Amino acid sequence: MSVQKALSVRVEAAMDRAIALGQGTGSGPSQLSRALEYAVKPGGARIRPTIALSVAMACGDDRPKLTDAAISALELIHCASLVHDDMPCFDDADVRRGKPSVHKAFSEPLALLTGDSLIVLAFEVLARAGAEKPDRLAELIRILAARTGMPGGICAGQGWESEKTIDLGAYHRAKTGALFIAATQMGAVAAGQDADPWEELGARIGEAFQVADDLRDALLDEAALGKPAGQDAVHDRPNAVNILGVRGAVSRLQDILSGAIASIPSCPGEAMLAQMVRAYADRIVPEPARIYAAE
Ligand code: IPE
Ligand code: IPE
Ligand code: MG
Ligand code: MG
Repeated sequence: MSVQKALSVRVEAAMDRAIALGQGTGSGPSQLSRALEYAVKPGGARIRPTIALSVAMACGDDRPKLTDAAISALELIHCASLVHDDMPCFDDADVRRGKPSVHKAFSEPLALLTGDSLIVLAFEVLARAGAEKPDRLAELIRILAARTGMPGGICAGQGWESEKTIDLGAYHRAKTGALFIAATQMGAVAAGQDADPWEELGARIGEAFQVADDLRDALLDEAALGKPAGQDAVHDRPNAVNILGVRGAVSRLQDILSGAIASIPSCPGEAMLAQMVRAYADRIVPEPARIYAAE
């Protein structure tokens, strides 16, 4: 089994366990129970838990159950943010991951509750796995909460869209970067390392992801994206392709990821992590941009 496949199998198993916990034994409301699973499975790229797991493994992964809880909690928050983001009061998007978004498939009240339930479930998953290592648990909760809420997490990121003028850097750092920082830091903390040295790697991968997302939004269609395309133009949001052009955006993305590799803290799996970031760089540039930039 390839390393990539082994990571993906472990991520999906952790997500399945988390959803089973959220659904309980079947005594809860059935539609909300189905909506929880619908919002999480099948997943998208699962990039955040994959990064977190890679970092944990690079740091020794001495408490695999805690690592599994950390990676699934992180992805639950991400899935919740997508459910809320698609609702009519935000982006009003009908399609997500190639299927009707949760408020379309179920209803607006159920979409709101699905997002809420997933956020709460994330912290329950962590709490249940952390008894053995309370110091790591407290740190994992702190990081995930800070990167989810105000003033610098996803809530803040979404909140910037209601301001008259957007601080673009703060908007991207909070909306997109925050959960990538949570990914590297939670992976390290689950394996018993300090969070601080891992912030820069997460921030840089998040910045590169934002540029790649801008390229995808500008260059791919809804069928390829599995969600509405051209949304930055529709919502009049700044996009790296408009600012830098396709070639400029690709070269910016590559520069950021070179910086990411240089920032990897010293750890037993340092070389493996550098390899992962290189593979990631190849993967996230969408095909049309790769072809165009190579011409
Ligand atoms: C989409 O994230 C939301 C942004 C922060 C731009 P992903 O592109 O990681 O979404 P999935 O999980 O793969 O569907
Ligand atoms: C969603 O951002 C990111 C969240 C934190 C919810 P966008 O609205 O830019 O991403 P997509 O295009 O819907 O995935
Ligand atoms: Mg949005
Ligand atoms: Mg959106």
